[in-house]
Amino acid sequence: MTRALITGGAGFVGTNLADRILSDGGRVIVLDNLSRAGVQENLRWLTERHGTALDVEIADLRDRGVVARAVGAADHVFHLAAQVAVTTSLDEPMHDAAVNLQGTLNVLEAARARTTPPTLLFASTNKVYGRLGDIELVERATRHEPAEPALRGRGVGEDCPLQFCTPYGCSKGAADQYVLDYARSYGLATVVFRMSCIYGPHQFGNEDQGWVAHFLIRALEDRPISVFGDGKQVRDVLFVEDVVAAMQSAQENAQRLAGRAFNIGGGPRNCLSLLELLELIEELRGQPPAVDFGPWRQGDQRYYVSDTSHFTAATGWRPRVLPRDGVRRLHAWLMTDRSAASAAA
Ligand SMILES: NC(=O)c1ccc[n+]([C@@H]2O[C@H](COP(=O)([O-])OP(=O)(O)OC[C@H]3O[C@@H](n4cnc5c(N)ncnc54)[C@H](O)[C@@H]3O)[C@@H](O)[C@H]2O)c1
Repeated sequence: MTRALITGGAGFVGTNLADRILSDGGRVIVLDNLSRAGVQENLRWLTERHGTALDVEIADLRDRGVVARAVGAADHVFHLAAQVAVTTSLDEPMHDAAVNLQGTLNVLEAARARTTPPTLLFASTNKVYGRLGDIELVERATRHEPAEPALRGRGVGEDCPLQFCTPYGCSKGAADQYVLDYARSYGLATVVFRMSCIYGPHQFGNEDQGWVAHFLIRALEDRPISVFGDGKQVRDVLFVEDVVAAMQSAQENAQRLAGRAFNIGGGPRNCLSLLELLELIEELRGQPPAVDFGPWRQGDQRYYVSDTSHFTAATGWRPRVLPRDGVRRLHAWLMTDRSAASAAA
């Protein structure tokens, strides 16, 4: 039986991925330092559900020895642990770089040291494309949209020039490039996902990261939602079940896909502006949530929608869960597990 290492496995995406692999009968090692508020709840949930098929290493990615041991025991590595907030990266760029860049090098070096290196999937971000400020946008009632019909219909492809912006964009972007280069320079089976907004159960969203969950948590608590900018910024959203399926597919096809980066998100059929999410929340709750508008935040993209056609062509994967359904499912999870979620908000 194969064993997967998930760094950041107690986090939102990692917990969903671990649960899927374990439910399919696989074995999983979770390496996580539990620095994200609330994720201890995820780990407790995973341990209760899966018992001894799950190995847990409470450790820091910056600890080379522990990382080497964990990578040494795995056939597949999903490298998801990270300092995830742009805001924190602006306050603490050294910490951000140490975790996101040095930590990734620790994982890569541990993989390279193996006689038979594991496959490696890295969770990168659409932020590697920068603010995309040169996309000409038209303003509609609830959203900004690209003026160019082809871009509106397809989204942003992997051929978009890289433009690292904010320390988080730089650390994740540099790590993204190293991961791709370890395929070129050392022949490792590495794949990069440049992910857009992922949402779903086990997400402890806050003002700094995880906006879909954060908005819902605020609405559930009858607290005002802060919107930075005009609320018409558009993101493609992807339900976590869909990203987990994509990650499993990338791992299964890693030898063939080695050295490639893919944009992964909901694509043009699953995009939402912040104002449109507020409307969905109003439908779910039967009343409009309270909203405070503030100035734009540094590095915020007014429009980002992924063109996922390359990954679909390579593997047949496509998103299945529509935002209306996914947001309803996340809302239901937050209603039943609210105490844990609100403790982290
Ligand atoms: N969720 C999204 O919308 C999204 C979008 C783009 C990219 N990503 C990337 O996907 C990955 C997973 O995101 P997520 O939403 O599950 O985030 P998350 O914060 O829920 O999970 C990250 C996990 O990493 C752990 N961690 C942080 N620093 C660590 C360290 N030094 N050592 C060990 N563990 C550490 C945290 O405790 C947490 O459990 C991240 O790399 C993130 O940058 C996420």
